[in-house]
Order: sequence, then structure tokens, then C-alpha cells
Amino acid sequence: MKLTVDFHAVPAKINPAIYGHFSEMLGGVFYDGLWVGPESDVPNIRGFRKELVERLRAIHPPVLRWPGGCFAETYDWRDGIGPREKRPTRVNWWYRWDGRTEPNQVGTHEFIDLCRMVGAEPYFAANMTSLTPQQLRDWVEYCNFPGGTALSDERARNGASDPFGIRLWGIGNENWGDGGRMTAEDCAHLFNRYACVLNSACKDPLEFILCGPNGGDTDWTRRLLRAWRDNPFPCAGMSVHYYCGAAGKADDFTDSQWYELLARGYHMGALLDSHLAVMDDLGEEYRLPLVVDEWGCWHPDGSGPSKGYNLFEQQSTMRDALIAAITLHAFQDRCERVRMANVAQLCNNLHTLFLASGDRFCVTPTYHVFDMMQGHMGGARLPVSLDAPVLEQPGLDPLPLVSASASEKDGVLTLSMANLSLDEPYSVRLDALGRELRGEARLTLLRAETPRTVNTFDRPDAVAPASRVLPLSGGDVLTLPPASLTVLTVG
Ligand code: AHR
Repeated sequence: MKLTVDFHAVPAKINPAIYGHFSEMLGGVFYDGLWVGPESDVPNIRGFRKELVERLRAIHPPVLRWPGGCFAETYDWRDGIGPREKRPTRVNWWYRWDGRTEPNQVGTHEFIDLCRMVGAEPYFAANMTSLTPQQLRDWVEYCNFPGGTALSDERARNGASDPFGIRLWGIGNENWGDGGRMTAEDCAHLFNRYACVLNSACKDPLEFILCGPNGGDTDWTRRLLRAWRDNPFPCAGMSVHYYCGAAGKADDFTDSQWYELLARGYHMGALLDSHLAVMDDLGEEYRLPLVVDEWGCWHPDGSGPSKGYNLFEQQSTMRDALIAAITLHAFQDRCERVRMANVAQLCNNLHTLFLASGDRFCVTPTYHVFDMMQGHMGGARLPVSLDAPVLEQPGLDPLPLVSASASEKDGVLTLSMANLSLDEPYSVRLDALGRELRGEARLTLLRAETPRTVNTFDRPDAVAPASRVLPLSGGDVLTLPPASLTVLTVG
């Protein structure tokens, strides 16, 4: 098969924020995933698990969403400020009680500390379901006002004399569902009201994200955007949530379930296009950037190390890793209109990058995808054409068995190629329009012993990438092994 990278095309910038993450106060994401506490024997930096912080920093997370998810819609930010020993313990009310309580040991200050440690921009999910606009406005003032008001002085007394400067605010979460069971019209009108009030709390420009659809619900998008335009407050983007699952278990699936789930993951592109088409149909002033602030594979509970204790914790194989790669490709293909995305969720949860418990820790194959593909972040997307074989499955989108995406940054070409076939190696002849692909390249390959192999605390590197230098002389042919991700950097 021939793969052509087009250097002549007008490049479009890949917003680094599409490589963003999501961490909810839920199950084992924070306790004891990210957070072990400053008194712990587990090596930590001001309470956050040191090994995780270092591995996270290494992949340059651009943005981190918090504190939910559905949890955000019952979260009162005042529970998470002040001396930690005095903070209240609450029922951890996700959309139902998950059997855990919320000790509020991680609150606004700790979360900002984590973001600063790893270099991520915080993206706050503001509770539009059960707090008033005034209560949320107070959170903005507490975080962002420089000083000399009751709330900004309280922040200073709590250890932060400089404002946090939180720019990104999601207004509401899944308000079509357990975020208040609203109609699209109610959600849009509340967005305008809340955004208008929140905006009055500081002089910094804030960016507000409107709660968009559940998966492919284009009716929500149409009605939401129409109602938002009734008297719109400026909006920086519309969220979309899309999870794929229901094809076997995380680490136990048939060959046909391998392809079934990959096709569901590949559907992300068509789904985004359907919402973009609604915006285009409504007109220019309805064309909001997309913010895919929850995405990933959602498998049946219980496959993770805690055996079901941590809500939604799941294992991760090359199937999840490849879905991560083709989803990032889908965002890059539409980078003019996708401004941010957040894989759900960072640790001990759904499509997770890290598994941790006590002093035990490992990264998942999906972590390696984010690591290998970081060369794309902030690059100029270059169109790729390739004539990949396509798999047809009843009731699912046709699935190209090879997916590729290219970008250029600082003169370096990054080309990522995913072979989704379980048994077929594919040979790819590299070609380029407007550039010779010659010289020393670096090739990094991620594959596993079997499609069901996972990383565990005892075998943390069962699935890990390997790199080598590859001299290119023009017209080179690469072999993409079955069920693998290859990333080539040239220049
Ligand atoms: O990521 C887990 C949950 O999925 C989030 O709380 C919610 O927003 C979504 O339904």
C-alpha cells in the first residue's frame, strides 16, 4: 500500500489541547491513584504520587479537566479549601452513590499544584446543576481575583497569594442526563445565565464551554445551539462525550469483538462530522469549536487491579491503545474545528493511562500512545492519503485497517501509523509530495505478545515501545506488524 504525505497542502495547526486528560473525584482516580497524601510512605510530591507525576510530566499533558464528570454536578468547591484536616467528608455522589466517601483532601489548591507540577492547564467543570450562579461566581473570584477582596484574601490565607488564573470553565456536565435531566433549551439558557454571572468575577478573559450532546445526538446539538443563540453569552466551544464499549471485556474478547470495538472507536470521526454538519447547516454564528472532553473505551467493571473496588477501573490492551491512536488521528483530521479533547480518565479508571495502588504502579499501553504521538502536539497537520483495505461489519462503519496521520513541527515530520489487523502485516511504501523523505529517521513500535496482553504491577513493561534508528533513502517500504502502532520521526 502507498502512503503519501502532502507537504504542499495548506497546513492546519493541531491544537496541543486535543492531547488533554480528565481526572474525576471518583473511585480510585485520586485516592489512592494520583493522591497518596504527604504523610504516605509512597514517594510523593506534596501528596501526589511521585512516579505518576514524573511519568505524566514526560508526556507533556496540555490540559487536565477536574473535578468531574457527573461528580462535578454535586461538588461544592468550598469543601475543598482550607486546612485539610478540617475539610468535611461527604458522600461521593457520582450519579449514584459508588459506596465511597469523598474526604476532600484534593481540592482547588492541591489540584492546581498538580497541574503546575506536570505543566498542564487546568480546565474546571463548574456545577450548573446544584450550585447557584453566585456560588460559582465566588469560585471564580476565589481563584482569579488578584487580592483585596474577601474571597481573594481567603485564598491568600490558604497559601496562594497569587491568583490561579483559571481560564477554562465548563458550564455543566452531561446536563441531558444525570447533570439535572435538562432539556437542550433549559441547558442553553442556563449556560447564558451562569456564564454571564461567572464572567463578572474577574477581569481576565474566561472561556466557557457549553454542554453538548451525548454521542451522536444531533437533535440536542441543534436545539441547544438554537436556544443558546436566543441571547448568547460568548462561548468558547461545545462539549461532546463519546465512549465506545460493549464488545467483550477489557482483557478478554474474541477476534470479532476486537474489530467490533475498533469500528466503534473509529466512529468518532463520523460522529464529530455529524455535529459539525448541524452547525454548518444552522449558519456561521453557530459554528462553535468542538471540545471532546470525555472519550474512551468503557468496558465492564472489574478488570483492574482492585477487582471492582475502584468504580470503572479497567485494564487496557493494544485494542485500547489503537483506539486511542485512531481517535487522536480523527481529532487531527479535523483539527481546524476540534480545539480540545480529554481522554477519560487519567488513573485507575476507564481508558486509563496509569494503574496504581499502595506502592504499586504501572503505565498502560495507552500511556505509550500519548508518549509516542506527542510530536504531533502543536504541529502543522499534513494530509495523508493511503489506500488501506477496509473491513465491512454488519451495523458498523466500514473500518480502514490502517490509519495514519502526519504533522510537521520545527522541521521534524511525525508520522503515526496504526495497523488494526489482528494477523496481517502491511507493507507501506512511503511517498511525499513536495519533500524527499531521506536521511536518518527514528522508528518507534508499540506491539504486544498477544492482543490481550496487559501491563500489570508484576509485569509493568509487558507492553512497551521499542525504538531504533532507520536510514531512509527515498521510496522506502515499512512493514507495519499486526495490531501495532508505528511512529516515525524524520528530520
Ligand atoms: O467518566 C465517567 C463518567 O462518564 C463521568 O462522570 C460522566 O460525565 C460520564 O457519564
